[in-house]
Amino acid sequence: MELFSEDRSAQVVAASFANTLDPRLRQLLAALVRHLHAFAKEVELTEQEWGAAIDFLTRTGQKCDDVRQEFVLLSDVLGISMLVETINHRTGGTSTESTVLGPFHMVESPPRELGDNIALDGKGELCLVTGRVTGTDGEPLAGALVDVWQANENGFYDVQQPDVQPERNLRGLFTADEDGRFWFRTIVPRYYPIPDDGPVGELLAATSRHPNRPAHVHFIATASGYRPVTTHLFVDDSPYLNSDAVFGVKESLIRRFPLIDDPARAAEAGLPNPFRTVHFDIALLRADQKQPTQRNRHDGP
Ligand code: BEZ
Ligand code: FE
Repeated sequence: MELFSEDRSAQVVAASFANTLDPRLRQLLAALVRHLHAFAKEVELTEQEWGAAIDFLTRTGQKCDDVRQEFVLLSDVLGISMLVETINHRTGGTSTESTVLGPFHMVESPPRELGDNIALDGKGELCLVTGRVTGTDGEPLAGALVDVWQANENGFYDVQQPDVQPERNLRGLFTADEDGRFWFRTIVPRYYPIPDDGPVGELLAATSRHPNRPAHVHFIATASGYRPVTTHLFVDDSPYLNSDAVFGVKESLIRRFPLIDDPARAAEAGLPNPFRTVHFDIALLRADQKQPTQRNRHDGP
């Protein structure tokens, strides 16, 4: 076996993994070692800096428990969560784009009837959300499940304020009608900071980054025979749309929430007049549709 040297460090270490039986694991380790060694060489990493990094990662692990996943948060603020999500859910411009799941889908959304109001405490600016789940050819997906959850008008999820908000506030699992349509009442969410009282918060502060996410409603849409999508609907006039702490914003997911002044429509929706509305259609790829690759999207024939 070749001995370690600065010049050939990555090759020597990669060779130590050469007998890895799983070819994918071998490939992952070889690339990881190559990039890590190149990084240390590029920045001439000092022992003190590497020690600080180990300490940071140790504290990141120590911050994790059943409800707090600081490593996922680290992956989020480094943009890796969004990159992995995007690589694995390419749409080819035909289906709804995906974005991060986030840590607040920790409880199951309660099944609700179409039209229900998920703002259980009635606080906030009321809003009618409408949309339709289809395939990429526009075929309606009757019975599609639409799971939604969001923060309240102060930027907190129910699970963050168990003594303030009713349990399962601003969460619902809806079943689309025979035409793939769904509708429900909620409130306009507010932007909020990701948990920043741990090592990830220290990293943001040390790099003069804010911890905020623009206002959004989370969606997971599923339908039999189609690929599920985990996504958000973003409020178009929210602060931080251009500087989301976790890089989750995609242009195609931003929607206007116009104020409607129409007493008849308000009465029909069961909302006081005037009220806000938003329309969000969701298109799913068929399960047997090949995922577009980065190569064939950019390289042409
Ligand atoms: C969220 O949108 O719920 C979220 C996503 C990533 C990190 C923290 C929160
Ligand atoms: Fe969120």
